Amino acid sequence: TIQIGRGKAILPGLIDVHVHLRDFDQRKKETVETGTMAALHGGITTVFDMPNTQPPILNAETFERRKALFEGRAYADYALSFLIRNNCGDAVKAGADFYKIFMGASTGGVFSEDFKGDYSCTPGIVSVHAEDAEIIAQNPERPPEAEIRAINRALNAAEKLGKPLNICHVSTADGIWAILGRNLPWVSFEVTPHHLFLTKKNYERNSLLKVYPPLRDEEDRRALWRNFSRIPLIASDHAPHTLEDKESGAAGIPGLETEVALLLDAVNRGMLELSDIVEKMHDNPIRIFEITNKGFEVGKDADFTVVDLKREWKVKPEEFYTKAKWSPWDGRRLRGKVVMTILRGKVVMEEDEIVGKPEGVRINAGKGSA
Ligand code: DOR
Ligand code: ZN
Ligand code: ZN
Ligand code: ZN
Repeated sequence: TIQIGRGKAILPGLIDVHVHLRDFDQRKKETVETGTMAALHGGITTVFDMPNTQPPILNAETFERRKALFEGRAYADYALSFLIRNNCGDAVKAGADFYKIFMGASTGGVFSEDFKGDYSCTPGIVSVHAEDAEIIAQNPERPPEAEIRAINRALNAAEKLGKPLNICHVSTADGIWAILGRNLPWVSFEVTPHHLFLTKKNYERNSLLKVYPPLRDEEDRRALWRNFSRIPLIASDHAPHTLEDKESGAAGIPGLETEVALLLDAVNRGMLELSDIVEKMHDNPIRIFEITNKGFEVGKDADFTVVDLKREWKVKPEEFYTKAKWSPWDGRRLRGKVVMTILRGKVVMEEDEIVGKPEGVRINAGKGSA
């Protein structure tokens, strides 16, 4: 981090390891173009694309289609994923940057019914959506137990296999304690800004805040903050939906254009340091996902996120680049803003304006553990 006077700082280009870019048959919700422009606007130079698309990325053919789709369309750099169900053979062929397992049903209805925790055949780094299929089938409210049971099952598998596992969007006190208590160095996890800053009270007032896993109690939220220094990754789980789809019950919250600013605002409130953002959105993503061509070393890409900690602004979703022009933080005044994004030495976003071309490239990730 380089201070450039009066509250401005240059951070290494931030990486969001959990983004749903949609496209394919869901271009109404988001396209590669709009989603990656949203990323640059929010100060994110690299996005990890999630595979619960329509159609889902479950075979080598669809993966090839995904690869072709991103070329010449992505404004930010990207990593591509593959969905694991009973298709390890296809997964080996595809050569994705990382792999995703849904332990319970989520958006897109794709989940790994037969996943009993054995992810041994997966040829790379695995991110897991940990919500127990049986509990959520019985209880659409998705109580904390759904997450806790799934996390424990995933941890059992990780303990046995000794192979990298990343647990997505941990939202409960018992969940985070289970992970930290087990203390397996090859297990990482993400926490989202919405679980850090919102609770189910917010959801009770605003049904747009429906999300999986759901917003929790204040005690859960506090447990995330109490263990903040031990959270390896902050990722948005950017999950754009049209307002029409939200009205019919779609779960998910767009987050790319607010996450860094919310964290900067929290820096101003003394809740964390600028270096925490760099650790959880740059250093740890590079280490955990074995990214080999990014970061602050000679021969690697010069990506930067320039922030102004003193700048005050108001969240106006109508000015977002994502197609989801709504936000839990609509109208909120924040202190701290991303003012410039630089991708491979070029200014690609300045003062809310995308000035780059769709020149994002696929990053090099996850090849070490194959
Ligand atoms: O709320 C969610 N939305 N949770 C998920 O796991 C998936 C995501 C989506 O794709 O919309
Ligand atoms: Zn998920
Ligand atoms: Zn997700
Ligand atoms: Zn803006």
